[in-house]
Amino acid sequence: MKFVGIFCIGIILWACNPSSRTATSSTENLSAFAQDDHSYANLEQINTTHLHLDLEVDFSSQTIYGVARHRMHNRGADTAIFDIKGLLIQKVTLGAKKHEKETDFIIGPMDKDSLFGQALLVKVDSSTQLINIYYQTTQASAALDWLDTTLTSSKTKPFLYTQGQAILTRTWIPIQDAPSNRLTYSADVKVPSDLMALMSAKNPKDIHKEGLYHFEMPHAIPSYLIALAVGDIGFKDLGNQCGVYAEKELLEQCAAEFEDLPQMMATAEKLYGPYQWGRYDVLVLPYSFPFGGMENPMLTFANPTLITGDKSLVSVLAHELAHSWSGNLVTNASWSDLWLNEGTTVYFEQRIMEALKGKEIADILAQVEFRELEQTLGQMKTEGTLADSKLHLDLKNRDPDIAMSDIAYVKGAFFFRTLEQTYTRPILDAFLKAYFKHYSFQTINAKQFASHLNKYLTKNGQKPFNYNEWIYTAGLPKNCARIVAPRIEQIEAKAQLLNQGKYPFEDMIRNTTFKKNGKTRRRTQIIRPQYKDYLIQEWQLFIRALSDQVPIERLRQLDKQFAFSHSGNCEILCDWFVLAAHSPYVFEIQTELKDFLLKIGRRKYVLPIYEALVQTKEGRTLAKKIFNEAQVTYHSVTRNSVQKVLR
Ligand code: BES
Ligand code: ZN
Repeated sequence: MKFVGIFCIGIILWACNPSSRTATSSTENLSAFAQDDHSYANLEQINTTHLHLDLEVDFSSQTIYGVARHRMHNRGADTAIFDIKGLLIQKVTLGAKKHEKETDFIIGPMDKDSLFGQALLVKVDSSTQLINIYYQTTQASAALDWLDTTLTSSKTKPFLYTQGQAILTRTWIPIQDAPSNRLTYSADVKVPSDLMALMSAKNPKDIHKEGLYHFEMPHAIPSYLIALAVGDIGFKDLGNQCGVYAEKELLEQCAAEFEDLPQMMATAEKLYGPYQWGRYDVLVLPYSFPFGGMENPMLTFANPTLITGDKSLVSVLAHELAHSWSGNLVTNASWSDLWLNEGTTVYFEQRIMEALKGKEIADILAQVEFRELEQTLGQMKTEGTLADSKLHLDLKNRDPDIAMSDIAYVKGAFFFRTLEQTYTRPILDAFLKAYFKHYSFQTINAKQFASHLNKYLTKNGQKPFNYNEWIYTAGLPKNCARIVAPRIEQIEAKAQLLNQGKYPFEDMIRNTTFKKNGKTRRRTQIIRPQYKDYLIQEWQLFIRALSDQVPIERLRQLDKQFAFSHSGNCEILCDWFVLAAHSPYVFEIQTELKDFLLKIGRRKYVLPIYEALVQTKEGRTLAKKIFNEAQVTYHSVTRNSVQKVLR
């Protein structure tokens, strides 16, 4: 985001009619003060150190009315630049409450792809420390998901939550929205008196009858981690400073599913040092939440599809908990290095799962991820986008969403697995523990990481490691650590048999003998492998290894035996619907498919199904029909991604 000559053009504009506050094309070639590819903020001149929010949440108009009170570190600036998108700015004042003076502001043009929003330029002087922005959100505030009562589990109370990462915080708060800037924040929030408000901060445990809530986040965090949720929410403590929030109807189930959280916390602390944030709670959101989890500090947001009744998806929780070190303590300085957040976190997640479930299970989970990476790399090759398989990406003028792929996550994690293999686990662990401590509450980029790695782990090449190849070149380096997991080979071999026209799950006859009244008798039992005989992740690998060409009768037979279309687990449902979409079989299960797409909003599940459907003419028609109905239930993150596929 570059501005050329902001100050001189600024002077012309300050003088113009204050009622026409949207700057014209002249601001387009304004100056070079932005430090981040996705933010207009002139952080080097002036940056927020503390933000206080005065907010009123109005469900009837689906609007947040707010004042964002910024305390600035000012190095002699005459203009402070903030990011906004989809916000109405009423006025801007300078100074402390009750002593505020209005100041001029202008709003720059929207970027051509409407990705980054607009610059809000506020006139200040070199002594300005307090800037107060009076604003309200609009229907274009993409971070916000306003759910009417029909979309909540109570069916009687509405719900609101925000999703800030990567660049959506600017759609509900006027802010310098770059991850390289850290700020503390506090908030006074007014909500309807029958609802609870929660933030990524110290949180209440009960509903406050007057609807007023005060929040404090005493540690400096990047803007994308500011989060708010409002609903008819209850709380249950899980011990060891951990707890769970959910809509009241779901609370007991959530608490049971997440009962191992205290143990995960103990494991994480043992690995990489003390947890720095006080409490760790998880809020289970309604079904529209577009992600599996989001690591908002002190209060992870989680998708209700994690509540499967069998703890089979708790690795997502391990992942979000791990972000309390990788990501939240040590943060990627820009979205070009999302891998520093996510790759480290996936590695950490795998380590927590290994400590909890043992190596065999953890390796199966890791292998599912590795297979996904291989598939992504294959796809990138065919699409000619292999350049984006570098860990460090050039995202100038590009949507930071591009970085959210198996490259940052899984290639990133296997970078650390390979380091572990090369230097031994105790040595890598000591390195990571010291790394989290060294960079606590700071941000880091790939270059700094590489030099830190070189100094403390590869020791100036004493034991050489190709980290530059890992970070800056496309594809997967040859020395990448591999996983050997025999159970995976067995289940994938079954899929191969199916692909060759055989059915690998025939009944087995087992003859046993037993004694009755002193006589030996024979019993013949028919044993059928059942759904519960395999892990969810084994079924996933099985379904994914099936060819698109598997005949419809076979799909019917599999579904009859294992009831994939009725699985209580969305991972299975998603993979099964994707496979079925390549066959006319999809029309036999379209009721289940439609119910799924109308209820679930997690992009990782929804998007691949639409992508598979649009590959046939009939499928595309079905996809469009379902989307027309479903889109109002999706968060903008999911809705926008699906829209691109259906275009
Ligand atoms: N922080 C991410 C979600 C995210 C990343 C949102 C980039 C926007 C931009 C979160 O921790 C995450 O990775 N969620 C995953 C969980 C999975 C990898 C265990 C998800 O939602 O699928
Ligand atoms: Zn993550």
